[in-house]
Amino acid sequence: MLVTLEGLDGSGKTSCIEALRAHDAVPAETTFTREPTGSWYGDAVRRSLADGDADPLAELFLYTADHAAHLADTVGPALERGDPVVSDRYSDSRYAYQGATLSGRFEDALAFVRSVHRPWTRPPDLTVYLDVDPETAAERAGATNKFETADYLADVRENYERLIEGAPDRFVRVDATQPLERVTDRVREVVAGEL
Ligand code: TYD
Repeated sequence: MLVTLEGLDGSGKTSCIEALRAHDAVPAETTFTREPTGSWYGDAVRRSLADGDADPLAELFLYTADHAAHLADTVGPALERGDPVVSDRYSDSRYAYQGATLSGRFEDALAFVRSVHRPWTRPPDLTVYLDVDPETAAERAGATNKFETADYLADVRENYERLIEGAPDRFVRVDATQPLERVTDRVREVVAGEL
C-alpha cells in the first residue's frame, strides 16, 4: 500500500507526517519518505529550486530522475517486502507543479508530464490532498522558494483539481484551512483506516 500526501506549499503536509509518526497511527514497519529525496538527485533538485533562471524542462527531468531513484532505492523495495509506504509528495507534485511551469511550452503540459512517467512509475493507492487556497498557501509558506507565489500556486491548484477529477477514488480531500490539529486528526483517521 502506497499512500501519498499532496498539496500546495504551506498546506501542512509536513505536520501531518509528523502526526502520523508520533501517534502510532500506522504499522511500525511503515516506511516514511519524501520527494524531493535526501539523495544527491534530490540535492540537484534543490539547486534548481534555488535558481530563478533554471530551465523548467531541465527541472522536470531533475525531479523525474529523483523520482526514478526514489522508486528504485526506497519505495519499490519497501512495497516488495509488503511494508506500507507514506510519501510526503510524489508523482502528483510533478504533474501539478511542472504542469504549471511548462504550461507555456506544451499545449497540455500536465498530460505531457504524466506521459513521461506513465511507462515506469508506480501510482499511489491513496492520495491525501490537503486543500488550501493559493493566497493562504503563499502566506504560510513565506515565499522561501520561487514556486511560493499566489499566482503560480493558483495554477498548481488547478492542476491538482484536474488530477482529482480524473481519479476521484484515489484522492481524499482534506480542508487544510482548518486549525492544524483538526487537519492532522483527519489525516491520521484517513491514513490509519487504510493501512
Ligand atoms: P517541499 O516538499 O515543499 O519541500 P520543503 O519541505 O523543503 O519546502 O518541496 C519543495 C518544492 O518543490 C515545493 O515548492 C514543491 C516543489 N516540487 C515540484 O515542483 N515538483 C515536484 O515533483 C516536487 C516533488 C516538488
